[in-house]
Amino acid sequence: MSLFSHVSAAPPDAIYHLTTACNMDPNPQKLNLGVGVYKDASGNIPVQRTVKEAERQILTEEQTKNYLPIEGSAEFSALTRGLLLGCHGSLVDSPASVTLQTPGGTGALRLALELISRQLPTAAVWISDPTWANHGQLCTQAGIACHSYPYYNSATQSLDTDPFLAALAQVPAGDVVILHGCCHNPTGADPDRDTWREIANLAQAREFLPLVDMAYQGFARGLDQDAAGLRTVAEADLPLLVCNSFSKNFGVYRERVGALSLLGFEAAEARRLLSQLKVMARTLWSSPPSHGAQVVEHILGQPELRMQWEGELQAMRERINEMRRLLAASLQDLGTDTDFSFLVRQYGLFALTGITPEVNEIMRRRDSIYFMPTGRINVAGLTVETISYFCRSYRAATT
Ligand code: LMR
Repeated sequence: MSLFSHVSAAPPDAIYHLTTACNMDPNPQKLNLGVGVYKDASGNIPVQRTVKEAERQILTEEQTKNYLPIEGSAEFSALTRGLLLGCHGSLVDSPASVTLQTPGGTGALRLALELISRQLPTAAVWISDPTWANHGQLCTQAGIACHSYPYYNSATQSLDTDPFLAALAQVPAGDVVILHGCCHNPTGADPDRDTWREIANLAQAREFLPLVDMAYQGFARGLDQDAAGLRTVAEADLPLLVCNSFSKNFGVYRERVGALSLLGFEAAEARRLLSQLKVMARTLWSSPPSHGAQVVEHILGQPELRMQWEGELQAMRERINEMRRLLAASLQDLGTDTDFSFLVRQYGLFALTGITPEVNEIMRRRDSIYFMPTGRINVAGLTVETISYFCRSYRAATT
């Protein structure tokens, strides 16, 4: 008899569980289209050449393993804001802007939500329907009420702009709205420039706090283009939280590199908020892990490495977009009634295919193809060679 004997088992994490199941599958043709990681044309999850080069430099130059400050490296923070806001954005160097280095984008989100839970105890958080599976449980674990706003029309396979904006117009003052900066997870459908402007207007009029989750900058159209929505909100001079991840665009998943930025606050208030965030970070992870952030800092801070990295990122983006085109064409060639052209109108790793849980189950059982029961696939998990395997499996499971 233990003090914990009443504890029931929690369900496994929906996304990580797929990887575990796929790893155990002996079928050599198996495909893991679950977790959102970039895979190259051979199906590998590569370490970028630029990252290897930065690691070599760090290994040679590193003089100490001493703790970082609680808020992380100041240089990393400034470079992060530069990437998010554009090097010339007035908020990059403003005393009203603060950035904390965090263990991954998830660490940034958890820290932001802890701040909201403690300092805005009556605030609720609004998340898109659908959204990344972790958003809801991050709110729950931080003890915050969470509601969803309509976002996606699965009949037209596109952003449901009017109901989305109408829902934001009803958000109570003082609540928090989580928005995906680009490459919406799981739909790949992003707001256009006008819609972002409207979001900023609504945040101002309704006095809700936007929290932009930026996990895929560079995976849609380009580093600056992908941050255009975020910059539109930032330029409206609103208080704004940004949680960003470097896992995907630097491929440093397991190194846990991310940041939380507070923008548009009055300078003294920003300093007070930073002091509170530091207390919370100190009791969560004390000070952030260094290695991955040093890699990011090295690359962003050195023009030559940065150019090389931007080239690698561009190649990743082009491969993702190419897989989207090929998949849409191959599914279209099957001659089914479904129109898959939405795949090429959307961006990033994910597509919400519309494949039902029943068909998903058949494809997994017969052909060892693993993807989310919601129909979400990681497009970058496909290669020129495996697209036809996926399409044949889909056709066999639906006819
Ligand atoms: C995903 O949605 O698959 C990625 O964001 C990875 C993760 O941490 O869930």
